[in-house]
Amino acid sequence: MDPVDNPYTPGAGTPPPELAGRKSILSAAENAIKRTIGGKAAKSQLMLGLRGVGKTVVLNRINQIAENEGCQTAIFEADPDHSLPELLTLQLHRLLLKLDRRKKVGNDIQKTFSYLRGFASTFRVKYGEFEVGLTNELTTGDLTIDLADLFVLIGKASKRRNMVSVILIDELQYVEREDLGALIMALHKILQLQLPLIFFGAGLPQLAKLAGDTKSYAERLFDYPEIDKLDDKSATQAIIYPAKREKVEFEPDAVDLIISETEGYPFFLQVWGSHVWEIAQASPITARDVDFATKKAIQALDNGFFKVRYERLTERQKEYIRAMAAIGHLPVGSSEVATRMNIPMTKAAPIREEIIRKGMIYSPGRGLISFSVPKFDEFLRRGSQF
Ligand SMILES: Nc1ncnc2c1ncn2[C@@H]1O[C@H](COP(=O)(O)OP(=O)(O)OP(=O)(O)O)[C@@H](O)[C@H]1O
Ligand SMILES: [Mg+2]
Repeated sequence: MDPVDNPYTPGAGTPPPELAGRKSILSAAENAIKRTIGGKAAKSQLMLGLRGVGKTVVLNRINQIAENEGCQTAIFEADPDHSLPELLTLQLHRLLLKLDRRKKVGNDIQKTFSYLRGFASTFRVKYGEFEVGLTNELTTGDLTIDLADLFVLIGKASKRRNMVSVILIDELQYVEREDLGALIMALHKILQLQLPLIFFGAGLPQLAKLAGDTKSYAERLFDYPEIDKLDDKSATQAIIYPAKREKVEFEPDAVDLIISETEGYPFFLQVWGSHVWEIAQASPITARDVDFATKKAIQALDNGFFKVRYERLTERQKEYIRAMAAIGHLPVGSSEVATRMNIPMTKAAPIREEIIRKGMIYSPGRGLISFSVPKFDEFLRRGSQF
């Protein structure tokens, strides 16, 4: 088939040609936004899921919905090298500029800008020409208090302008534990005061536990829509609809084969779709085409997607995940891994923590460990890279 017409979009955050199976999550988000606009309380949402299930795509879509509804939004990604205050300062500055365009008499926005400058200085964030590390009388230096005050100021400024502010953070699992606690506290305060500010976060599944550990009421503060692999019906739609628009059909057993190879994981559906498109000579696409595509897809993933992630680990960490994969089922017990590595639990635990922090593995339950990248265990067992 002509590569120019290839509709599939393997990538990170790339909008898929067919956003399958996410209607209920999107409409829940839309309702929350509309409730907030209508002055009603709405829960913030934390979208949890493994790598490549489509969290970023959903978060971007929610951002679009919010903008279409006339909200002011700030959307960004957390990363392990920047603190939450650092990331927030710049984004909230932008949000305030947007709010400032809605002129109103009064100096509340200026007050909020000064507070943000104080906040930046207290938490040693580089912010415009403002000098880092100056003391100021506005902030306390305790992020839990200062972030709540900052959110309240922004919430109030939004309210005065009949606006709703929406903050969306991706890769939220990278936010430090205490910072996450402060964020949760700030959102709690906003909800209590019924201010028009709503939050959407996305991250790896460990986030639920992290949030719960930090603040016990996090459970009641957030909804946790799970973003999982697609069921067979949605996976079928994700594969056949984009092709149909290009006047290309699939034989049913070709679709079944793609679903069984990809297990319905959105990223893999795009990878398989894209390869099978390249291989097939004509419509309809057959199971034989999928067989060829599977070989190509696995080869490409092993040399790219999987390998890149594997290479981010140290030798010791690589050993740890190879031991995990060798056990042959998931999740595995942390103690099983230690036994297989022939080291005591006390030595294995810190290695495990480092790999969790890198976002490669997570704990789905007490003493258990699994891969946050689907099919990573199969890659390690193929062993084509070592
Ligand atoms: N509902 C869906 N239907 C079909 N394809 C999808 C769907 N959601 C996402 N995709 C595709 O899956 C891939 C991964 O999406 P995305 O980057 O949003 O995942 P993610 O969960 O944010 O992954 P990561 O944890 O690695 O950041 C993209 O190629 C995207 O086009
Ligand atoms: Mg993402």
